[in-house]
Amino acid sequence: MVPSARFVRLRRVSRFHGSFALAGDKSISHRLALLGALAHGRTTIGNFSAAADCQSTLDCLALMGVPVTRHGPEVTIDGRGPESWYAPSAPLDAGNSGSTLRMLAGPLAGRPFRATLSGDASLNRRPMERIAVPLRAMGARIQTTDGRPPMTIEGGSLSGIDWRLPVASAQVKTAVLLAGLQADGTTTVHEPHASRDHTERLLPAFGVEVRKDGGALSVRRQDLRAFSMDVPGDVSSAAFLLVAALVLPDAHVRVEHVLLNPGRTAFLDVLRAMGGDLTVGVDSEAPEPVGWIEARSSRLHGITVDPAVVPALIDEVPALAVAAALAEGTFTVSGAAELRVKESDRIAALADGLGRMGAAVEERPDGLVIEGGRPLHGASVASHDDHRIAMALAVAALSADGETEIEGGACVAVSFPDFLDLVRRASR
Ligand code: S3P
Repeated sequence: MVPSARFVRLRRVSRFHGSFALAGDKSISHRLALLGALAHGRTTIGNFSAAADCQSTLDCLALMGVPVTRHGPEVTIDGRGPESWYAPSAPLDAGNSGSTLRMLAGPLAGRPFRATLSGDASLNRRPMERIAVPLRAMGARIQTTDGRPPMTIEGGSLSGIDWRLPVASAQVKTAVLLAGLQADGTTTVHEPHASRDHTERLLPAFGVEVRKDGGALSVRRQDLRAFSMDVPGDVSSAAFLLVAALVLPDAHVRVEHVLLNPGRTAFLDVLRAMGGDLTVGVDSEAPEPVGWIEARSSRLHGITVDPAVVPALIDEVPALAVAAALAEGTFTVSGAAELRVKESDRIAALADGLGRMGAAVEERPDGLVIEGGRPLHGASVASHDDHRIAMALAVAALSADGETEIEGGACVAVSFPDFLDLVRRASR
């Protein structure tokens, strides 16, 4: 395997063994940084994500005067409340990170200055009106560029709203709730299906009261107090190593101290229903469930995924698609149109990449149908500059005949910089 700026080359492996403790979960790291910056006092974050995306969040906060220090995986934020944030002297660059841009928009809506949020070419193609519409309704002035970044926010006094999300999105939910912490009255968010719940789990740890009524969440204007936490390992990164263990011969992977939030582990249920040999143990529960996962070589078969669980496994569809291509029978996922507006159009990118490697993948407007069991062969494939597409194709390459060349494969650093090193170690 030769990682280079442009290409990653991989071949079939005959074994895959390892015990891993991964860098902190990306979703939780973003939120701890944001909440620490809104709080009063010192927030210390251990095992902060190694992802480039989470560094983007820290860089944006620093550009507004938030005192952030980082020593490897330990991040310290000396929060002085949102009143201490000042207007950034340059556009806030969220890089590839939709979470940074969308979630930061919430607190910025309540700040009395103008800030422009932008990103790389991929992020600047992604939809932002889903954030702008509720924040405008609360009183912020927001301009997008044809619905996309760059997005300029002129914040100020906000009023609470009662907001029904048209599409389940934890980023939108978070942005509206964080804006609600600076708004007059009550802010309530309803979701069509449950998305990841890290924000509502972590806010109480920062001293914020979150009211839950059925699927609705409400907050009122409140101060946050600092909270320190070690971030459990990123379960979305683990997904690629676990799928590799299931589909490869002579394979066993154990992941320690990993996030086990049920809003993130639905992919494990799908893999188990496909015949995957997976064992899970919980070590602790609050504020986030943490434990270990083991996976071993398995004979997998296709299933139909319930669309209601799709928001809880949306980031794992690329890994599941590889498992499906190497399983017997038909695998169907629908209700996943959001995949078309992720870091790439993941439905098209998976059909393209896995298809070039010999898999039978049919694109649907809102999902994929994969006829598994065809032998995969090495090919020249494109990451579409999407970290999760690159990792999915890398796992497929480990079981393909011949060499696979992944263009732009170095983009794995967006979420999992150590991925290729760990793969190399496990297959030695
Ligand atoms: C995330 C929410 C999801 C997910 C993304 C991270 C989060 O996006 O795909 O990778 O941390 O809140 P949506 O909010 O667009 O569903």
